[in-house]
Amino acid sequence: MKKLLDRITEEVAGAFAACGYDGAYGKVTLSNRPDLCEYQCNGSLQAAKAYRCAPIQIASAVVEELKKAWIFEEACAVNPGFINLKLNPGFVRDYLQEMAGDERLGCEKTKHPCRIMVDYGGPNVAKPLHVGHLRSAIIGESVKRLGRFMGHHMIGDIHLGDWGLQMGLIITELRHRKPELVYFDESYQGEYPKEAPFTISELEEIYPTASARSKTDEAYKEEAMEATYLVQHGRRGYQALLQHILDVSVADLKKNYASLNVEFELWKGESDAQPYIPDMVAKLKEKGYAYESEGALVVDVKEETDTKEVPPCMILKSDGASLYTTTDLATLVERKKLFDPDAIIYVVDKRQEMHFVQVFRCARKTGIVDEKTRLLFLGFGTMNGKDGKPFKTREGGVMRLENLIADINEEMYQKIAGNPEISPEEARKTAKVVGLSAIKYGDLSNQASKDYIFDVDRFTSFEGNTGPYILYTIVRIKSILGKYRALGRDPEAEPVGHCSGGTQKSLMLELARFSGVMENAFEETAPHKICAYIYELANAFNKFYHETKILGEEDQEKRAGLVGLLVLTKRVLEICIDILGFEAPERM
Ligand code: ARG
Repeated sequence: MKKLLDRITEEVAGAFAACGYDGAYGKVTLSNRPDLCEYQCNGSLQAAKAYRCAPIQIASAVVEELKKAWIFEEACAVNPGFINLKLNPGFVRDYLQEMAGDERLGCEKTKHPCRIMVDYGGPNVAKPLHVGHLRSAIIGESVKRLGRFMGHHMIGDIHLGDWGLQMGLIITELRHRKPELVYFDESYQGEYPKEAPFTISELEEIYPTASARSKTDEAYKEEAMEATYLVQHGRRGYQALLQHILDVSVADLKKNYASLNVEFELWKGESDAQPYIPDMVAKLKEKGYAYESEGALVVDVKEETDTKEVPPCMILKSDGASLYTTTDLATLVERKKLFDPDAIIYVVDKRQEMHFVQVFRCARKTGIVDEKTRLLFLGFGTMNGKDGKPFKTREGGVMRLENLIADINEEMYQKIAGNPEISPEEARKTAKVVGLSAIKYGDLSNQASKDYIFDVDRFTSFEGNTGPYILYTIVRIKSILGKYRALGRDPEAEPVGHCSGGTQKSLMLELARFSGVMENAFEETAPHKICAYIYELANAFNKFYHETKILGEEDQEKRAGLVGLLVLTKRVLEICIDILGFEAPERM
């Protein structure tokens, strides 16, 4: 189904052509003067230069032609040469009926499906999830869902931080606490126990303890580095411990991400890339890309047009150890081999931008990825507290994600429990659903690259540009549809009815934008555009709702047509919030 703007543009382009002008001047946009018209075309102004005549002359001729087009109720030429347009209500209704008849509401799947990997989440094992991981999870999940909706093959990879010193630290601390464990017996040849020698809470305590001690105790740090080396170079007992650390962490992470409605197709980690390193390094040397500089192995990645210094990409440190860049490059080798993606989108804190500039350039230059693979860094800004500084607990510590979610849910519960029709159990459940919308919408409604203020009061409000407001709108529609059903009628079976102008037409025109918004949000990797759209749509709906008798409408056919419009509004909102990664309750 054609996008509404394309459909209108086609008509106007035809009129330009019929008047002897190039149809390309017929591009139509949403009106920036909604008080005057719904759509506008400014093409006459440019055409006037090419055809050396007055813009109004062209606009007037085109408008004469447009008067023949039934899709417009009004077309007029305005000085100096604008064309103002209003759609015929009958056309709008037909358009919406066609939309409603389509399972995808008229939004066509891409004709060129791509395999796109989204690298998001990025938590480090053995450390609790904290608010820093929240943005990556929320944005990455919605980018993935949006791509999937557009018909692409999307693969989400959590890319765990499961490699490096933290593993050595945990092993060392365990060794100090429980030296008798079989994992530390080098002569042991048998099978290791299936059960981990620690729980997730112990693990979460062990790591920070070890990390703190390593900062003051040099010998302890040496030991941890040695353990890191050994786990990376095949010490059996340590590798068995590594597996336990991973298993225990991953089980806990899965639970946490599930509570965020976030799901990964791949649970790979930095450790999975390690086997690819030796061969990759050998090739980089062999082909002459990598050279030694102050003992380290590096690849130059600066470019003439750089305005900021881009340091060489470091491949190996002088002691031969690999780095974060090495792991990301090797991960690209692995992804190419296993998935051959058309694109990879990295949803990572924007403070890591330079790292990705280096990795991307190095990967391209050395042929680790080929021309066809797009690499995109979607860097996000910081989530701040009301004081404008990175979000912290009241005590000033790093806020654990679980606690943040619990706080929001409690806030939501207090609001919902005020509704006497809702039992406390239902209120608890609903609070979780609405709380998630508060967190996710609060994040996604901002352009990803910007910092934003996490404001619990604002985000949980039922009014304004918030998740709960959107849900409230859906719940309102559900309630009307429920009453309609109680009259023995099936709302889903009602066609969208006649358009009577005013707020109803505004609502209908908002609905008709759906496919255009989706396409654009995908092209620009911009979930915030979906938020902006549903906020406008919800506003348009609520204005219409306050002015219109729906179930009270006596004319049965008219009433059915209004119900059909409500059903379509609900479907559009529900598809959008599903892409944003949350859902609506039955009531709230
Ligand atoms: N684990 C990293 C961190 O906590 C984020 C990983 C991002 N993804 C990547 N491919 N480097 O900073």
